[in-house]
Amino acid sequence: MRMPTKIPQAPSEDKRWRIVETTMRRQGFDPHALIEALHSVQQAFGFVDESSMRYVATCLRVPLSKVYGVSTFYHHFTLKPQGKHACVVCLGTACYIKGNGLAVKAISERFKVKEGQTTDDGQLSLLTARCIGACGLAPVSVIDGEVVGKSTAAELIAKIERSLSK
Ligand code: FES
Repeated sequence: MRMPTKIPQAPSEDKRWRIVETTMRRQGFDPHALIEALHSVQQAFGFVDESSMRYVATCLRVPLSKVYGVSTFYHHFTLKPQGKHACVVCLGTACYIKGNGLAVKAISERFKVKEGQTTDDGQLSLLTARCIGACGLAPVSVIDGEVVGKSTAAELIAKIERSLSK
């Protein structure tokens, strides 16, 4: 097992991070511990948010895009905010300049949902993230667990519409 030389710092002083860290340590900080680590975040905090995903990704040396993918794919995980479907738009520099800045605006207008919030009917959460580690695919978004790269706002909207109609 390849243990990280230095364990990344937890997002806050909250003691519940120790539980998460212990879970990952027991697995030797192996990337395969991803689901178990997220499970432990969910149990300790009741939801999975961006700071916890970032922490787990760093500890396990897993791309953040994968962590977003897993967290949004399994309905077991409660994202914060929580909608039946989730669209995460990356607003890191590479994605922003390639059009995601406009995409998030277009999605927000089309589905009447503010950034970081869920539609009134609870169907769709619109989240944004800083770089999710897949810049080569910029602009990148994650829709219900699927990493979607090189997509225009119109393509993202069409994909979300398909997800909502399932
Ligand atoms: S800036 Fe979006 S993946 Fe890196």
